[in-house]
Amino acid sequence: MTLVRFISADGQSTSEVNAKPGDRLLDLAQTDGQPLEGTCEGQMACSTCHVHVDPGDFAKLPRAEEMEDDMLDLAADVTRYSRLACQIWLTEELDSLTVRIPDAVHNMQGR
Ligand code: FES
Repeated sequence: MTLVRFISADGQSTSEVNAKPGDRLLDLAQTDGQPLEGTCEGQMACSTCHVHVDPGDFAKLPRAEEMEDDMLDLAADVTRYSRLACQIWLTEELDSLTVRIPDAVHNMQGR
């Protein structure tokens, strides 16, 4: 089990979900009602699933592939801890993962 923690763009609300190995971060986020559109459904063609991984958790994840990095170059509010949620699968070894929803997503939703 991995405890996945989603932090809202304004940092005001936190949501925790239990994930199984093999679960994809984007699916978990959407099931939890997080504002990640994931328009291309994991084809690495949209970057609307962009999240900021907690700096302490970032190194626990496999490195992003070149295509993911290229896509992130086009996203707004990118940091060195940015990842595409559609490219993150949870594993047995990962006991917890904290990610924050970027501001740009927040704004796009008009909230
Ligand atoms: Fe489009 Fe992740 S869902 S890049």
